[in-house]
Amino acid sequence: MTLHTLPRQPFIVGIGGTMRPGSSTERALSAALAHAGRLGARTQLFGGQELAALPAFNPEVTTRTANELAFVEAVRQADGILLASPGYHGGVSGLVKNAIDLLEDLRADERVYLDGRAVGCIVTAAGWQGCNTTLGALRDIVHALRGWPTPLGVTLNTAGVSLFDANGNCTEPAAQRSLEMLAEQTLTFAPKMAARRESNAFIQHPA
Ligand SMILES: Cc1cc2nc3c(=O)[nH]c(=O)nc-3n(C[C@H](O)[C@H](O)[C@H](O)COP(=O)(O)O)c2cc1C
Repeated sequence: MTLHTLPRQPFIVGIGGTMRPGSSTERALSAALAHAGRLGARTQLFGGQELAALPAFNPEVTTRTANELAFVEAVRQADGILLASPGYHGGVSGLVKNAIDLLEDLRADERVYLDGRAVGCIVTAAGWQGCNTTLGALRDIVHALRGWPTPLGVTLNTAGVSLFDANGNCTEPAAQRSLEMLAEQTLTFAPKMAARRESNAFIQHPA
């Protein structure tokens, strides 16, 4: 895959992980983000520690911390998103959902919420049921925010296996390839949506 058709260097933001040292969710996200980088994208990761630094979202509070502002601004500028959650009790973890709720700050943007961005979703869970319910929940959230989930979603069953080595490298070739494909699909969409924005001619309104 080449990015020669892109009008400019795409910017891909990674969101996800857990507060657990060596989080497999964050490692999977980092692997996908690294592949986006190898393909020519500029990338930024908001992993477990960064997400934990965001206050609990309160719709009544309009002041924002520097961490909140940085997170919202990165998503605002993003051409594509990689979004990763563990399956916690059959759904998206509170840590990840809290960050997503902060995207309410994009409500009044011209590119509202995740409009015009491909979103590649990654889920780790200790069983396939948790993988599947959480992937469905993540995709529903992306749809609610007007984003475009990629055709591929990556689910990694972490029960009893170590999918990443101490350096964060994926030790399972099929999983690594899935994460790379996810990055490729997220990037494939970016030039199309950038061209749509720049031409602004994709919808013909009747006179
Ligand atoms: C609070 C909590 C709830 C969990 N709930 C589920 C679940 O409902 N289904 C499942 O398959 N795994 C569940 N798990 C297991 C995690 O999804 C799994 O270990 C995941 O890979 C952890 O991600 P991490 O390595 O990034 O911390 C749960 C783990 C925790 C800590």
